[in-house]
Amino acid sequence: MKIHTKVVHTGDRKKPGPHVPVTTPIHTASSYFYESMAQLDRVFGKEEQGFAYARYENPSTAALEEVVTTLENGHGALACASGMSAMHMALAAALADRPRSVVAANALYGASVSLLMQVLEPSGVAVRFVDVCDLNAVRAAVAESRPGCILLETISNPLLRVPPLDQIAEIARQAKAAVVVDNTFATPLMVRPLELGAHFTVHSLTKYLAGHGDVLGGVVVTDQEHFENLRALSRTIGPVLGPFESYLAMRGIKTFALRMERQCANACRVASWLAAHPAVSRVYFPAAADHPDAATIRRLLPPNLYGAIVSFELKGAEKPQVFRFMDALKLIVRATSLGDVHSMMLYPVMSSHREVSPKHRERMGIGPGLVRLSAGIEAPEDIISDLDQALASI
Ligand SMILES: Cc1ncc(COP(=O)(O)O)c(C=O)c1O
Repeated sequence: MKIHTKVVHTGDRKKPGPHVPVTTPIHTASSYFYESMAQLDRVFGKEEQGFAYARYENPSTAALEEVVTTLENGHGALACASGMSAMHMALAAALADRPRSVVAANALYGASVSLLMQVLEPSGVAVRFVDVCDLNAVRAAVAESRPGCILLETISNPLLRVPPLDQIAEIARQAKAAVVVDNTFATPLMVRPLELGAHFTVHSLTKYLAGHGDVLGGVVVTDQEHFENLRALSRTIGPVLGPFESYLAMRGIKTFALRMERQCANACRVASWLAAHPAVSRVYFPAAADHPDAATIRRLLPPNLYGAIVSFELKGAEKPQVFRFMDALKLIVRATSLGDVHSMMLYPVMSSHREVSPKHRERMGIGPGLVRLSAGIEAPEDIISDLDQALASI
């Protein structure tokens, strides 16, 4: 079945009966009643399928977990209250029975860097950052650190580097390390990391999957080996997504593949236009012929889908010029997030990477003139004309 069909059908219409809702309802109950204690005992003991307590499972959330598992071609999923909560759970499960050491990509979402440095490191996890687009550097870091886990993003935030995930997974396999991949930017329309050897795929559901700027959520999808462990941790920690948010995310997913195709096409148009604009000194977009990861992009990304983020530098700009440019936008929404139906722009230094130290930001290549555009589903001419008039203002 193609992804466009899976997004519409998977997870719904579970219960055979005279009245089956066509879409999964919002189940708000926190616990479940059974005719006998013996049956509840079997449900608690997992001898019989059923729901017992909402921290363990919820039917609205289970439907969402089923569709995301199918899209990522995994064994099972855990929906969490945010993308960061999902990332935390994935790392906790990956390190549960492995050395407490992580080799992480240099280029990561700011809060993921904070999670590593401000939460995991102080609790005794060794963290080492490496340029994951340089396989020799990855090999050396793995040989020296002997990590329990390698963490990377399929397409990095915000400079859109594309590491050779399949080859990194092979290095990890030989070193018996787990691979955790944040697939938020690429989405399962473009890349399914578990098919390339990863063990955990993480999403901020808040972004492309839900897609409408009205829900915060995250999800971890795993292979068979790690699934029970992940769920057992979740039963104790309780990071789960609520039923209302699960419903919204699932509703969003039905149009995800269509939206994403359109957003990718819009991003391509905008990136080419920006590349020729005199006020723009550099454009970061995976379709560029001179992209440093062009060979990996050709191997791992499908033709003509390069993601829907375009980052670019305003020529000679510092914070005041960037503020002037962004304040002049009339259609593109100035807001922290990405992946919504409306185009959005963010200033990484001020928001997504604000908590990252200036030194680490510099190492990541995030300067004061860099902005990040998330292309929406609007007519591309309208996005371009908004950028044009705002660029004229600096
Ligand atoms: C690549 C990436 N991963 C994870 C997250 C965290 O997701 P959330 O905000 O849903 O916690 C974000 C948020 O911007 C992100 O861009």
